Amino acid sequence: MEFKVDKYKTSKQRLDLADKNLNAPKIYIETYGCQMNVADSEIVMSVMIDEGYAITDEVNNADIIFINTCAVRENAEKRIRNRLVALNVLKKKKQSLIIGLLGCMAERLKEKLIKEEQILDIVAGPDSYRSLPGLVKQAESGSKAINVLLSREETYAEISPVRKDKNNVSAFISITRGCDNMCAFCVVPFTRGRERSRAPESILNEVRQVIYEGYKEVILLGQNVDKYNWNKGEVNFSQLLKMTADLDSNIRIRFTTSYPQDFTDEVIQIMSEYKNICKYIHLPVQSGSNDMLKKMKRGYTREWYLNRIKAIRRIIPGCSVSTDMISSYCGETEKDHQDTLTLMEEVKFDFAYMFKYSERPNTYAARNYEDDIDEETKKRRLNEIISLQQKLSLESNQKDIGKIFEVLVEGISKKSEEQYFGRNTQHKVVVFSREDAKIGDYVDVEINTCTSATLLGKIIN
Ligand code: SAH
Ligand code: F3S
Repeated sequence: MEFKVDKYKTSKQRLDLADKNLNAPKIYIETYGCQMNVADSEIVMSVMIDEGYAITDEVNNADIIFINTCAVRENAEKRIRNRLVALNVLKKKKQSLIIGLLGCMAERLKEKLIKEEQILDIVAGPDSYRSLPGLVKQAESGSKAINVLLSREETYAEISPVRKDKNNVSAFISITRGCDNMCAFCVVPFTRGRERSRAPESILNEVRQVIYEGYKEVILLGQNVDKYNWNKGEVNFSQLLKMTADLDSNIRIRFTTSYPQDFTDEVIQIMSEYKNICKYIHLPVQSGSNDMLKKMKRGYTREWYLNRIKAIRRIIPGCSVSTDMISSYCGETEKDHQDTLTLMEEVKFDFAYMFKYSERPNTYAARNYEDDIDEETKKRRLNEIISLQQKLSLESNQKDIGKIFEVLVEGISKKSEEQYFGRNTQHKVVVFSREDAKIGDYVDVEINTCTSATLLGKIIN
Protein backbone atom coordinates (compact mmCIF):
# COMPACT_ATOMS: atom_id res chain seq x y z
CA MET A 1 0.00 0.00 0.00
CA GLU A 2 1.42 3.35 -0.99
CA PHE A 3 1.39 6.17 1.49
CA LYS A 4 -0.23 9.52 0.90
CA VAL A 5 -1.15 12.11 3.54
CA ASP A 6 -4.54 13.48 2.63
CA LYS A 7 -3.94 17.22 2.99
CA TYR A 8 -7.39 18.12 1.81
CA LYS A 9 -9.24 15.60 3.92
CA THR A 10 -8.26 16.17 7.52
CA SER A 11 -10.95 15.45 10.11
CA LYS A 12 -11.49 19.18 10.56
CA GLN A 13 -11.93 19.79 6.84
CA ARG A 14 -14.34 16.90 6.49
CA LEU A 15 -16.41 18.12 9.44
CA ASP A 16 -16.41 21.70 8.11
CA LEU A 17 -17.42 20.59 4.63
CA ALA A 18 -20.27 18.54 6.06
CA ASP A 19 -21.41 21.58 8.10
CA LYS A 20 -21.53 23.74 4.97
CA ASN A 21 -24.19 21.52 3.47
CA LEU A 22 -27.21 23.03 5.17
CA ASN A 23 -29.46 20.22 3.93
CA ALA A 24 -27.33 17.51 5.50
CA PRO A 25 -29.22 15.54 8.18
CA LYS A 26 -27.45 15.91 11.52
CA ILE A 27 -26.13 13.03 13.59
CA TYR A 28 -25.47 13.11 17.31
CA ILE A 29 -23.31 10.27 18.69
CA GLU A 30 -23.07 9.33 22.34
CA THR A 31 -20.32 6.89 23.29
CA TYR A 32 -20.18 4.60 26.33
CA GLY A 33 -17.60 2.06 27.50
CA CYS A 34 -14.04 1.43 26.39
CA GLN A 35 -11.60 3.32 24.19
CA MET A 36 -12.38 0.94 21.33
CA ASN A 37 -15.89 2.35 21.33
CA VAL A 38 -14.50 5.89 21.08
CA ALA A 39 -12.48 4.74 18.06
CA ASP A 40 -15.54 3.00 16.60
CA SER A 41 -17.64 6.16 16.91
CA GLU A 42 -14.95 7.92 14.86
CA ILE A 43 -15.38 5.27 12.17
CA VAL A 44 -19.16 5.74 12.28
CA MET A 45 -18.71 9.50 11.80
CA SER A 46 -16.43 8.85 8.84
CA VAL A 47 -18.89 6.47 7.16
CA MET A 48 -21.81 8.86 7.65
CA ILE A 49 -19.98 12.04 6.59
CA ASP A 50 -18.95 10.33 3.36
CA GLU A 51 -22.65 9.68 2.72
CA GLY A 52 -23.57 13.36 3.09
CA TYR A 53 -24.49 13.57 6.77
CA ALA A 54 -23.20 16.18 9.25
CA ILE A 55 -22.23 15.78 12.92
CA THR A 56 -23.72 17.85 15.73
CA ASP A 57 -22.73 18.23 19.40
CA GLU A 58 -26.24 19.28 20.33
CA VAL A 59 -28.66 16.42 20.91
CA ASN A 60 -31.66 18.71 20.45
CA ASN A 61 -30.56 19.56 16.88
CA ALA A 62 -30.13 15.95 15.82
CA ASP A 63 -32.08 14.19 13.09
CA ILE A 64 -30.39 10.93 13.99
CA ILE A 65 -29.08 9.83 17.39
CA PHE A 66 -26.61 6.96 17.67
CA ILE A 67 -25.83 5.47 21.08
CA ASN A 68 -22.63 3.41 20.96
CA THR A 69 -23.00 0.98 23.83
CA CYS A 70 -21.10 -1.26 26.26
CA ALA A 71 -22.28 -4.65 27.57
CA VAL A 72 -19.36 -5.66 29.77
CA ARG A 73 -21.25 -5.25 33.05
CA GLU A 74 -24.96 -5.17 33.84
CA ASN A 75 -24.67 -1.60 35.13
CA ALA A 76 -23.40 -0.36 31.78
CA GLU A 77 -26.53 -1.74 30.13
CA LYS A 78 -28.82 -0.30 32.81
CA ARG A 79 -27.37 3.14 32.22
CA ILE A 80 -28.14 2.89 28.53
CA ARG A 81 -31.71 1.68 29.16
CA ASN A 82 -32.23 4.74 31.37
CA ARG A 83 -30.81 6.99 28.70
CA LEU A 84 -33.32 5.58 26.21
CA VAL A 85 -36.15 6.55 28.58
CA ALA A 86 -34.82 10.12 28.64
CA LEU A 87 -34.53 10.19 24.84
CA ASN A 88 -38.18 9.22 24.54
CA VAL A 89 -39.05 12.80 25.46
CA LEU A 90 -37.14 14.06 22.41
CA LYS A 91 -38.71 11.48 20.13
CA LYS A 92 -42.21 12.50 21.24
CA LYS A 93 -41.42 16.10 20.25
CA LYS A 94 -39.90 15.15 16.91
CA GLN A 95 -41.58 12.18 15.26
CA SER A 96 -39.03 11.95 12.43
CA LEU A 97 -36.10 11.51 14.86
CA ILE A 98 -34.21 8.27 14.19
CA ILE A 99 -32.55 6.51 17.11
CA GLY A 100 -29.96 3.79 16.56
CA LEU A 101 -28.29 1.64 19.20
CA LEU A 102 -24.80 0.51 18.18
CA GLY A 103 -22.01 -1.55 19.69
CA CYS A 104 -21.75 -4.39 22.17
CA MET A 105 -25.24 -4.20 23.66
CA ALA A 106 -26.71 -4.28 20.15
CA GLU A 107 -24.68 -7.37 19.38
CA ARG A 108 -25.57 -9.11 22.63
CA LEU A 109 -29.32 -8.56 22.53
CA LYS A 110 -29.99 -8.36 18.78
CA GLU A 111 -33.73 -8.47 17.76
CA LYS A 112 -34.72 -8.59 21.41
CA LEU A 113 -33.71 -4.94 21.76
CA ILE A 114 -36.00 -3.83 18.94
CA LYS A 115 -38.87 -5.65 20.66
CA GLU A 116 -38.07 -4.35 24.15
CA GLU A 117 -37.23 -0.77 23.29
CA GLN A 118 -39.95 0.69 21.08
CA ILE A 119 -37.95 3.89 20.71
CA LEU A 120 -35.22 2.18 18.65
CA ASP A 121 -35.24 2.34 14.84
CA ILE A 122 -31.81 0.80 14.27
CA VAL A 123 -29.77 -1.90 16.02
CA ALA A 124 -26.23 -2.33 14.65
CA GLY A 125 -23.36 -4.48 15.95
CA PRO A 126 -19.64 -3.51 15.93
CA ASP A 127 -18.87 -5.14 12.57
CA SER A 128 -21.78 -3.59 10.67
CA TYR A 129 -20.89 0.11 10.55
CA ARG A 130 -20.34 0.18 6.79
CA SER A 131 -24.01 -0.69 6.41
CA LEU A 132 -25.24 2.19 8.60
CA PRO A 133 -26.23 4.51 5.70
CA GLY A 134 -28.43 1.71 4.32
CA LEU A 135 -29.89 1.02 7.76
CA VAL A 136 -30.70 4.72 8.16
CA LYS A 137 -32.47 4.75 4.76
CA GLN A 138 -34.48 1.71 5.81
CA ALA A 139 -35.44 3.40 9.08
CA GLU A 140 -36.40 6.59 7.22
CA SER A 141 -38.78 4.57 5.11
CA GLY A 142 -40.51 3.47 8.27
CA SER A 143 -39.21 -0.02 8.98
CA LYS A 144 -36.97 -1.14 11.80
CA ALA A 145 -33.41 -1.89 10.65
CA ILE A 146 -30.99 -4.40 12.17
CA ASN A 147 -27.53 -5.70 11.30
CA VAL A 148 -25.69 -7.74 13.89
CA LEU A 149 -23.57 -9.92 11.64
CA LEU A 150 -20.08 -10.51 12.96
CA SER A 151 -17.20 -10.75 10.54
CA ARG A 152 -13.91 -12.63 10.50
CA GLU A 153 -12.21 -9.99 8.38
CA GLU A 154 -13.63 -6.55 9.07
CA THR A 155 -11.00 -4.14 10.45
CA TYR A 156 -12.30 -0.96 8.80
CA ALA A 157 -8.69 -0.74 7.60
CA GLU A 158 -9.02 1.89 4.90
CA ILE A 159 -11.71 3.98 6.61
CA SER A 160 -10.16 7.19 7.83
CA PRO A 161 -11.78 7.95 11.22
CA VAL A 162 -13.19 11.44 11.78
CA ARG A 163 -11.76 12.79 15.03
CA LYS A 164 -13.73 15.42 16.81
CA ASP A 165 -11.91 16.13 20.10
CA LYS A 166 -11.04 19.77 20.41
CA ASN A 167 -7.56 19.39 21.86
CA ASN A 168 -6.07 17.39 18.97
CA VAL A 169 -3.42 15.79 21.18
CA SER A 170 -4.16 12.10 21.50
CA ALA A 171 -5.51 9.78 18.80
CA PHE A 172 -6.83 6.23 19.19
CA ILE A 173 -5.79 3.84 16.45
CA SER A 174 -7.20 0.34 16.43
CA ILE A 175 -4.82 -2.47 15.49
CA THR A 176 -6.88 -5.56 16.25
CA ARG A 177 -10.58 -6.26 16.64
CA GLY A 178 -12.37 -8.97 18.57
CA CYS A 179 -10.98 -11.39 21.13
CA ASP A 180 -10.40 -15.16 21.09
CA ASN A 181 -9.45 -15.50 24.74
CA MET A 182 -12.86 -16.47 26.07
CA CYS A 183 -12.21 -15.53 29.68
CA ALA A 184 -15.07 -17.26 31.50
CA PHE A 185 -16.69 -14.05 32.82
CA CYS A 186 -16.40 -11.90 29.72
CA VAL A 187 -19.00 -11.02 27.12
CA VAL A 188 -16.57 -9.32 24.71
CA PRO A 189 -15.79 -12.41 22.56
CA PHE A 190 -19.55 -12.71 21.94
CA THR A 191 -20.11 -9.04 21.14
CA ARG A 192 -16.94 -8.25 19.19
CA GLY A 193 -16.36 -11.59 17.54
CA ARG A 194 -13.18 -13.31 16.45
CA GLU A 195 -9.75 -11.80 16.81
CA ARG A 196 -8.31 -10.23 13.66
CA SER A 197 -5.37 -7.93 12.93
CA ARG A 198 -5.33 -4.88 10.72
CA ALA A 199 -2.72 -4.51 7.96
CA PRO A 200 0.44 -2.78 9.25
CA GLU A 201 0.60 -0.35 6.33
CA SER A 202 -2.93 0.81 6.97
CA ILE A 203 -2.09 1.36 10.67
CA LEU A 204 1.12 3.26 9.83
CA ASN A 205 -0.73 5.41 7.30
CA GLU A 206 -3.27 6.37 9.91
CA VAL A 207 -0.46 7.27 12.31
CA ARG A 208 1.16 9.43 9.60
CA GLN A 209 -2.17 11.12 8.95
CA VAL A 210 -2.72 12.04 12.61
CA ILE A 211 0.86 13.32 12.88
CA TYR A 212 0.15 15.51 9.85
CA GLU A 213 -3.01 16.74 11.58
CA GLY A 214 -0.96 17.81 14.61
CA TYR A 215 -1.54 14.99 17.09
CA LYS A 216 1.28 14.28 19.54
CA GLU A 217 0.33 10.87 20.88
CA VAL A 218 -1.14 7.70 19.42
CA ILE A 219 -2.77 4.97 21.46
CA LEU A 220 -2.78 1.60 19.72
CA LEU A 221 -5.92 -0.29 20.62
CA GLY A 222 -6.92 -3.93 20.81
CA GLN A 223 -8.63 -6.25 23.30
CA ASN A 224 -5.32 -8.11 23.48
CA VAL A 225 -2.64 -6.20 21.56
CA ASP A 226 -0.07 -8.93 22.20
CA LYS A 227 -1.98 -11.18 19.80
CA TYR A 228 -1.40 -8.75 16.94
CA ASN A 229 -0.34 -11.00 14.08
CA TRP A 230 -0.22 -9.90 10.47
CA ASN A 231 0.05 -12.47 7.72
CA LYS A 232 0.84 -15.53 9.84
CA GLY A 233 3.67 -14.05 11.86
CA GLU A 234 5.11 -11.68 9.25
CA VAL A 235 4.56 -8.78 11.69
CA ASN A 236 3.95 -9.32 15.40
CA PHE A 237 3.09 -6.75 18.06
CA SER A 238 6.64 -5.86 19.05
CA GLN A 239 7.56 -5.30 15.40
CA LEU A 240 4.48 -3.15 14.85
CA LEU A 241 5.38 -1.14 17.94
CA LYS A 242 8.87 -0.57 16.61
CA MET A 243 7.59 0.45 13.17
CA THR A 244 5.21 2.94 14.77
CA ALA A 245 7.81 4.40 17.11
CA ASP A 246 10.26 4.81 14.21
CA LEU A 247 7.88 7.12 12.32
CA ASP A 248 8.52 10.21 14.45
CA SER A 249 10.52 10.43 17.68
CA ASN A 250 8.39 13.39 18.78
CA ILE A 251 5.20 11.36 18.84
CA ARG A 252 4.38 9.39 21.95
CA ILE A 253 3.20 5.83 21.56
CA ARG A 254 0.92 4.07 24.04
CA PHE A 255 -1.00 0.83 23.70
CA THR A 256 -3.73 -1.04 25.48
CA THR A 257 -4.60 -3.75 26.48
CA SER A 258 -1.80 -6.23 27.19
CA TYR A 259 -2.57 -9.77 28.27
CA PRO A 260 -0.31 -11.43 30.89
CA GLN A 261 -0.17 -14.80 29.14
CA ASP A 262 0.93 -13.27 25.83
CA PHE A 263 2.98 -10.29 27.03
CA THR A 264 6.56 -10.96 25.90
CA ASP A 265 10.00 -9.74 26.98
CA GLU A 266 10.45 -8.71 23.35
CA VAL A 267 7.73 -6.06 23.77
CA ILE A 268 9.28 -4.83 27.02
CA GLN A 269 12.65 -4.67 25.29
CA ILE A 270 11.33 -2.54 22.42
CA MET A 271 9.64 -0.24 24.97
CA SER A 272 12.95 0.25 26.77
CA GLU A 273 14.80 1.07 23.55
CA TYR A 274 12.50 3.89 22.44
CA LYS A 275 12.15 7.09 24.41
CA ASN A 276 8.87 7.86 22.64
CA ILE A 277 7.18 4.60 23.70
CA CYS A 278 5.61 5.45 27.03
CA LYS A 279 6.86 3.64 30.10
CA TYR A 280 3.46 2.43 31.16
CA ILE A 281 1.77 -0.95 30.91
CA HIS A 282 -1.84 -1.80 31.58
CA LEU A 283 -1.73 -5.48 32.48
CA PRO A 284 -5.09 -6.71 33.83
CA VAL A 285 -4.64 -9.46 36.43
CA GLN A 286 -8.32 -9.75 37.57
CA SER A 287 -7.49 -11.73 40.74
CA GLY A 288 -4.56 -12.69 42.95
CA SER A 289 -5.94 -16.16 43.66
CA ASN A 290 -4.87 -19.12 41.54
CA ASP A 291 -8.22 -20.84 42.10
CA MET A 292 -10.08 -17.79 40.79
CA LEU A 293 -7.69 -17.33 37.86
CA LYS A 294 -8.32 -20.94 36.89
CA LYS A 295 -12.08 -20.54 37.12
CA MET A 296 -11.77 -17.35 35.11
CA LYS A 297 -9.93 -19.32 32.40
CA ARG A 298 -7.23 -16.69 32.28
CA GLY A 299 -4.52 -19.22 31.42
CA TYR A 300 -1.86 -17.92 33.85
CA THR A 301 -1.11 -18.18 37.55
CA ARG A 302 -0.30 -15.59 40.21
CA GLU A 303 3.35 -16.66 39.95
CA TRP A 304 3.38 -16.21 36.18
CA TYR A 305 1.90 -12.74 36.57
CA LEU A 306 4.46 -11.75 39.23
CA ASN A 307 7.17 -12.99 36.94
CA ARG A 308 5.90 -10.68 34.14
CA ILE A 309 6.02 -7.78 36.61
CA LYS A 310 9.60 -8.74 37.53
CA ALA A 311 10.56 -8.71 33.85
CA ILE A 312 9.02 -5.24 33.41
CA ARG A 313 10.88 -3.89 36.45
CA ARG A 314 14.14 -5.50 35.36
CA ILE A 315 14.07 -4.23 31.79
CA ILE A 316 12.41 -0.84 32.42
CA PRO A 317 13.13 0.48 35.92
CA GLY A 318 10.52 3.11 36.77
CA CYS A 319 7.88 1.75 34.40
CA SER A 320 4.39 2.23 35.79
CA VAL A 321 1.89 -0.59 35.83
CA SER A 322 -1.88 -0.56 36.14
CA THR A 323 -4.40 -3.36 36.27
CA ASP A 324 -8.05 -4.43 36.20
CA MET A 325 -9.52 -6.35 39.14
CA ILE A 326 -12.72 -8.32 39.42
CA SER A 327 -13.78 -8.80 43.00
CA SER A 328 -16.21 -11.44 44.28
CA TYR A 329 -16.16 -13.80 41.33
CA CYS A 330 -18.11 -17.07 41.62
CA GLY A 331 -17.10 -19.01 44.72
CA GLU A 332 -14.52 -16.44 45.87
CA THR A 333 -13.54 -17.16 49.50
CA GLU A 334 -12.07 -14.73 52.03
CA LYS A 335 -8.73 -16.41 51.36
CA ASP A 336 -9.05 -15.74 47.61
CA HIS A 337 -9.92 -12.14 48.38
CA GLN A 338 -6.87 -11.85 50.66
CA ASP A 339 -4.73 -13.26 47.83
CA THR A 340 -5.89 -10.35 45.67
CA LEU A 341 -4.95 -7.84 48.37
CA THR A 342 -1.51 -9.38 48.91
CA LEU A 343 -0.84 -9.46 45.18
CA MET A 344 -1.69 -5.76 45.01
CA GLU A 345 0.70 -5.05 47.89
CA GLU A 346 3.39 -7.09 46.22
CA VAL A 347 3.10 -5.47 42.80
CA LYS A 348 2.30 -1.97 44.08
CA PHE A 349 0.17 -1.00 41.10
CA ASP A 350 0.32 2.68 40.21
CA PHE A 351 -3.40 2.64 39.43
CA ALA A 352 -6.21 0.17 38.92
CA TYR A 353 -9.71 -0.20 37.52
CA MET A 354 -11.70 -2.24 40.00
CA PHE A 355 -15.08 -3.93 39.53
CA LYS A 356 -17.55 -6.19 41.28
CA TYR A 357 -18.25 -9.34 39.33
CA SER A 358 -21.33 -8.94 37.17
CA GLU A 359 -22.76 -12.08 35.64
CA ARG A 360 -23.18 -11.86 31.87
CA PRO A 361 -25.73 -14.19 30.26
CA ASN A 362 -24.37 -17.07 28.14
CA THR A 363 -20.75 -16.69 29.22
CA TYR A 364 -18.95 -19.83 30.44
CA ALA A 365 -19.20 -18.53 34.02
CA ALA A 366 -22.94 -17.90 33.76
CA ARG A 367 -23.50 -21.40 32.36
CA ASN A 368 -21.26 -23.23 34.82
CA TYR A 369 -20.93 -21.34 38.09
CA GLU A 370 -23.24 -19.67 40.52
CA ASP A 371 -22.91 -15.92 41.08
CA ASP A 372 -22.95 -16.71 44.79
CA ILE A 373 -21.32 -13.82 46.64
CA ASP A 374 -24.00 -11.73 48.34
CA GLU A 375 -24.20 -8.04 47.49
CA GLU A 376 -23.05 -6.85 50.90
CA THR A 377 -19.89 -8.98 50.76
CA LYS A 378 -19.26 -7.86 47.17
CA LYS A 379 -19.44 -4.23 48.26
CA ARG A 380 -17.19 -4.75 51.25
CA ARG A 381 -14.53 -6.64 49.29
CA LEU A 382 -14.56 -4.11 46.48
CA ASN A 383 -14.22 -1.27 48.98
CA GLU A 384 -11.24 -2.99 50.59
CA ILE A 385 -9.61 -3.32 47.19
CA ILE A 386 -10.33 0.31 46.32
CA SER A 387 -8.96 1.68 49.60
CA LEU A 388 -5.82 -0.40 49.33
CA GLN A 389 -5.29 0.87 45.78
CA GLN A 390 -5.79 4.45 46.93
CA LYS A 391 -3.06 3.96 49.49
CA LEU A 392 -0.75 2.38 46.86
CA SER A 393 -1.45 5.15 44.33
CA LEU A 394 -0.74 7.80 46.94
CA GLU A 395 2.53 6.12 47.93
CA SER A 396 3.54 5.83 44.30
CA ASN A 397 2.77 9.52 43.70
CA GLN A 398 4.57 10.63 46.87
CA LYS A 399 7.74 9.03 45.52
CA ASP A 400 7.52 11.44 42.57
CA ILE A 401 7.66 14.60 44.67
CA GLY A 402 10.79 16.54 43.79
CA LYS A 403 11.18 14.78 40.42
CA ILE A 404 11.07 16.53 37.06
CA PHE A 405 8.93 14.99 34.32
CA GLU A 406 8.46 15.68 30.65
CA VAL A 407 4.73 16.26 30.36
CA LEU A 408 2.62 16.44 27.22
CA VAL A 409 0.08 19.24 27.69
CA GLU A 410 -3.32 17.72 26.95
CA GLY A 411 -5.84 20.37 27.97
CA ILE A 412 -7.13 22.87 30.49
CA SER A 413 -7.59 21.48 33.99
CA LYS A 414 -11.18 20.88 35.05
CA LYS A 415 -10.61 22.61 38.37
CA SER A 416 -9.04 25.86 37.19
CA GLU A 417 -8.84 27.81 33.92
CA GLU A 418 -5.32 28.91 34.89
CA GLN A 419 -4.03 25.38 34.97
CA TYR A 420 -3.26 22.72 32.41
CA PHE A 421 -3.29 18.97 32.81
CA GLY A 422 -1.12 16.53 30.95
CA ARG A 423 0.58 13.18 31.44
CA ASN A 424 4.12 12.03 32.00
CA THR A 425 5.49 8.96 30.28
CA GLN A 426 4.20 6.83 33.19
CA HIS A 427 0.66 7.91 32.33
CA LYS A 428 0.30 9.86 35.56
CA VAL A 429 -1.86 12.97 35.39
CA VAL A 430 0.11 16.13 36.15
CA VAL A 431 -1.54 19.51 36.87
CA PHE A 432 0.41 22.78 36.71
CA SER A 433 -0.09 26.49 36.02
CA ARG A 434 -0.17 27.35 32.33
CA GLU A 435 2.68 29.89 32.01
CA ASP A 436 3.31 30.33 28.26
CA ALA A 437 2.78 26.71 27.27
CA LYS A 438 0.30 25.60 24.64
CA ILE A 439 -1.81 22.48 24.41
CA GLY A 440 0.26 19.87 22.54
CA ASP A 441 3.61 21.17 23.88
CA TYR A 442 6.07 19.08 25.86
CA VAL A 443 7.03 20.86 29.08
CA ASP A 444 9.26 19.94 32.03
CA VAL A 445 7.33 20.00 35.26
CA GLU A 446 8.80 19.73 38.76
CA ILE A 447 6.44 17.96 41.15
CA ASN A 448 5.75 19.66 44.50
CA THR A 449 2.74 17.85 45.91
CA CYS A 450 0.23 15.13 45.03
CA THR A 451 -3.03 13.39 45.75
CA SER A 452 -3.67 9.71 45.10
CA ALA A 453 -4.93 10.62 41.62
CA THR A 454 -2.80 13.57 40.53
CA LEU A 455 0.70 15.03 40.64
CA LEU A 456 0.87 18.81 41.06
CA GLY A 457 3.84 20.90 40.00
CA LYS A 458 5.36 23.82 38.19
CA ILE A 459 6.84 24.26 34.72
CA ILE A 460 10.58 24.79 35.00
CA ASN A 461 11.66 25.46 31.40
N1 SAH B 1 -9.12 -7.02 27.06
C1 SAH B 1 -10.09 -6.03 27.27
C2 SAH B 1 -10.92 -6.24 28.46
C3 SAH B 1 -12.25 -5.74 28.21
S1 SAH B 1 -13.28 -5.71 29.54
C4 SAH B 1 -9.53 -4.64 27.20
O1 SAH B 1 -9.07 -4.26 26.16
O2 SAH B 1 -9.55 -3.87 28.16
C5 SAH B 1 -12.44 -4.58 30.63
C6 SAH B 1 -12.41 -5.06 32.02
O3 SAH B 1 -13.73 -5.20 32.51
C7 SAH B 1 -11.79 -6.42 32.22
O4 SAH B 1 -10.41 -6.39 32.28
C8 SAH B 1 -12.41 -6.88 33.53
O5 SAH B 1 -11.65 -6.44 34.63
C9 SAH B 1 -13.76 -6.17 33.53
N2 SAH B 1 -14.84 -7.13 33.29
C10 SAH B 1 -15.04 -7.87 32.18
N3 SAH B 1 -16.12 -8.67 32.35
C11 SAH B 1 -16.60 -8.42 33.59
C12 SAH B 1 -17.69 -8.93 34.36
N4 SAH B 1 -18.49 -9.89 33.89
N5 SAH B 1 -17.90 -8.42 35.60
C13 SAH B 1 -17.09 -7.46 36.11
N6 SAH B 1 -16.05 -6.95 35.42
C14 SAH B 1 -15.80 -7.41 34.18
FE1 F3S C 1 -12.55 -10.26 27.73
FE2 F3S C 1 -10.55 -11.78 28.38
FE3 F3S C 1 -10.79 -10.91 25.87
S1 F3S C 1 -11.35 -10.09 29.57
S2 F3S C 1 -11.86 -9.00 26.07
S3 F3S C 1 -12.13 -12.31 26.92
S4 F3S C 1 -8.91 -11.03 27.09
